[in-house]
Amino acid sequence: MAMIGLFGVLIAFIFFLVFLCFFLCKKSHNVALLKNWPFLGMLPGVLFNLPRIFDWLSEVHEANDMTFAFKGPWFSGTDMLFTVDPRNVNHMLSSNFPNYHRGPEFRKIFDILGDGIVAADMELREDLRKSGHALFHHQNFLELSLSCTTSKLKDHLVPFLDKAAEENIGIDLQDVFKRFMFDTASILMTGYDQMSLSIEMPEVEFSEAADFFEEATFYRHLKPVILWRLQYLIGVGTERKIRTASEIFNSLFAKIISSRRKEEISRGEKEPGIDAVTYYLNADTTKYKLLKPSNDKFIRDVVLSLLLAGRDTTSSALTWFFWLLSKHPQVMTKIRQEINAKFDATDLEKLVYLHAALSESMRLYPPVPFNHKSSSKSDVLPSGHKVVAGSKIVISIYALGRMRCVWGEDASDFKPERWISENGGLRSEPSSKFLVFSAGPRTCLGKRLALLQMKMVAAEIIQNYDFKVVEGQKIEPVTSIILRIKHGLKVTVSKNI
Ligand code: HEM
Repeated sequence: MAMIGLFGVLIAFIFFLVFLCFFLCKKSHNVALLKNWPFLGMLPGVLFNLPRIFDWLSEVHEANDMTFAFKGPWFSGTDMLFTVDPRNVNHMLSSNFPNYHRGPEFRKIFDILGDGIVAADMELREDLRKSGHALFHHQNFLELSLSCTTSKLKDHLVPFLDKAAEENIGIDLQDVFKRFMFDTASILMTGYDQMSLSIEMPEVEFSEAADFFEEATFYRHLKPVILWRLQYLIGVGTERKIRTASEIFNSLFAKIISSRRKEEISRGEKEPGIDAVTYYLNADTTKYKLLKPSNDKFIRDVVLSLLLAGRDTTSSALTWFFWLLSKHPQVMTKIRQEINAKFDATDLEKLVYLHAALSESMRLYPPVPFNHKSSSKSDVLPSGHKVVAGSKIVISIYALGRMRCVWGEDASDFKPERWISENGGLRSEPSSKFLVFSAGPRTCLGKRLALLQMKMVAAEIIQNYDFKVVEGQKIEPVTSIILRIKHGLKVTVSKNI
């Protein structure tokens, strides 16, 4: 009872706070200037700008020389340093990496991911990284990636688009890409095809749970730990969504791991499969001492992170890419010309302009919009900002991609040409500037796979279909840790004959 009473007081206080925020912020005209209010800190500015948080953060970074200290409400533990200065990024993610971990706060916020690679730190992270690297570079895994993407494309995506074209049905392209990536990631990570992309478009419990989890996790960053923990305990608000998501993840993985274990027992002398569950059930613990192949919860944690990493990011990238193409038909025409002149399904490397357009699209709409760090020891960043031990640091990858002082005056324009060098090849940019796949020892393990899948899907659609974005829909990102379009991307397709 006492707990519920305390919670009631907290909720009433938050309502009061929100009311006050809107009142105070409506009066302030320069939203890019962060005002530090007594007791409330800078939270009013954030709450007022929540619906356009990504763009607002870009404006604040631009106005504050790319780095600023955010002060949360007093005693809330939500103070953070925000920076997109490429010198600081390089310092934290690469040259001084050992001093910058996920940190205990991040692990608390991402507790649903448990011991998976996304939230892990220190020695466990190293074992997960090395074993993950070995898996992602295994010849059989690479072959499986190619074969399952090809068959999902030919046997599921193409028939689906053909039917939509034939019957002139509007489709949500974002949902289609999510299903495509969920099915392929599931084959690679669990050994099972979830068959979510089919003409019938079945309901996908996991997909909804993952979307809820990602949105609710965003809000955890803004609340004191005690508040969201209480909400979780009682099961209210966004925390109820996290609880439901966690139950769905657990039940899916319980089934998968149990049947995979049975298959392992009856496998005998046959070669084990190359999906991530089988790989970690047979993990070499003499090499990777901290892996726990006999622990189901551990396998669930490791593979859940991989499944989420594979599904959501690549589908987000493809959705924003097709939306940008609809706004820039000349880019679409150039890609189509390149595909028609050079395309050979076995050599996607030749599609330089397509690669440039994908990079440009991810610069403006990075699927993972934030990166977090926590400093182990006190330090001074190259920009001169001091960080004390345990400081929380946030890099807005979205804002970094839009900084005029980093990308030039045309930073907000979609221009694939900026990625083409004088000799017609691809111009490479340092990862401290193009941070879409992160940088240093924590660089994305799935980058190669993601680019392969994006190019295969994009080439197939652009070569064979025309699509039209349904007019009147509002295209804006959802407030989440993955940059999805809030209400999806409704399009109609027709065959390009
Ligand atoms: C366009 C697609 C993708 C983008 C933009 C992307 C981006 C990222 C980013 C920014 C990180 C760093 C996260 C952080 O440190 O907070 C990351 C890490 C990671 N990504 Fe990706 N990713 C993509 C696709 C994939 C795919 C398809 C997979 C595999 C199935 C994958 C697996 C991973 C893993 C395992 C990590 C953790 C690496 C580590 O911490 O050592 N990613 N990715």
